[in-house]
Amino acid sequence: MERTGTLEPFVTPLVRLDNLFDAPDLNVYAKLDSLQLSGSTKERTAASLLDGFIDSGQLVPGGLVIESTSGNLGIALSRQCVVRGMKFIAVVDENANKSALQIMRAYGAEVDIVLDPADGNKLAARRQRVQELLTQFPGAVTTNQYGSPQNPAAHYSSTMPEIMRDLDGNLDFLFVATSTTGTLLGCQNYVREHQLSTQLVAVDAEGSVLFDGLPAPRRLPGLGAGVVPELSLAAKPDHVVRITEMDMVLGCRRLAHREGILAGASTGAIVAAMTQMLPDIPTDARIAFLVHDSGVPYLHTVYDEDWVTENLGEASHYWTAQ
Ligand SMILES: Cc1ncc(COP(=O)(O)O)c(C=O)c1O
Repeated sequence: MERTGTLEPFVTPLVRLDNLFDAPDLNVYAKLDSLQLSGSTKERTAASLLDGFIDSGQLVPGGLVIESTSGNLGIALSRQCVVRGMKFIAVVDENANKSALQIMRAYGAEVDIVLDPADGNKLAARRQRVQELLTQFPGAVTTNQYGSPQNPAAHYSSTMPEIMRDLDGNLDFLFVATSTTGTLLGCQNYVREHQLSTQLVAVDAEGSVLFDGLPAPRRLPGLGAGVVPELSLAAKPDHVVRITEMDMVLGCRRLAHREGILAGASTGAIVAAMTQMLPDIPTDARIAFLVHDSGVPYLHTVYDEDWVTENLGEASHYWTAQ
């Protein structure tokens, strides 16, 4: 893996998967962004969001950054603030992985936990808390991952060019999980600007309001949104696939058992989405997807049979069938 120090995100490997599906002619590639130093694709987003403020002079060493995050962006910003000499407050909700909060604190970040609001809209409650903190700390900035053009810019300038370089510009389908939709949008801008024939598949959660979805309770962090993020208005994927939490678990298990890749819930959702779309995809197509994060923070949810049974229903057939 190419390294340029601890400041810049890594150029991550794109690996070929031959065992994920029983489809010998299919070319499936996984981009291992779980290998970023902060453990997720959000390493790229965090670096780009901060660079936007640093370049405009709004953020100088010692400055304070505040952001609402379901976990991964918080970890990435915590790390990026260390290497850029900034302070950081992460506004999180009760859904966040406990280990994610421990990691943020380990990097020296302050973690501000917003309790579940009566209306159940955690994202809206977190964003309101960010506004309160900005008033409390004059001079602080919020990186606004939901609306900042620096979010998609990260993936336009790194994620997608890296994939296309590794595949010699030849890719039929790209699967991306969505929350702010920044990753999808950055890849979309690259594809459309370069007039590539790559079809973009947005993988969203059941219960997410993205792409006209109906709101419903969701337990697993990473993908989906409770409020329509500003960025998503420009996201026009070729396909949207909505995945249940049980199918995310199934997808994670499949990737772990067939390819030895332990990934988080959103990547499990992508595997489930690919499984659903397979009958409509040419048998010799080239497909790539992002391994958005590692499965380690999900050991007590996705990979815990008791948790799955208690929260998602009887799952015993899932543990053996894959
Ligand atoms: C694990 C994981 N997958 C996918 C996403 C979706 O990325 P984006 O916010 O760019 O849509 C996120 C965002 O937080 C994430 O943490």
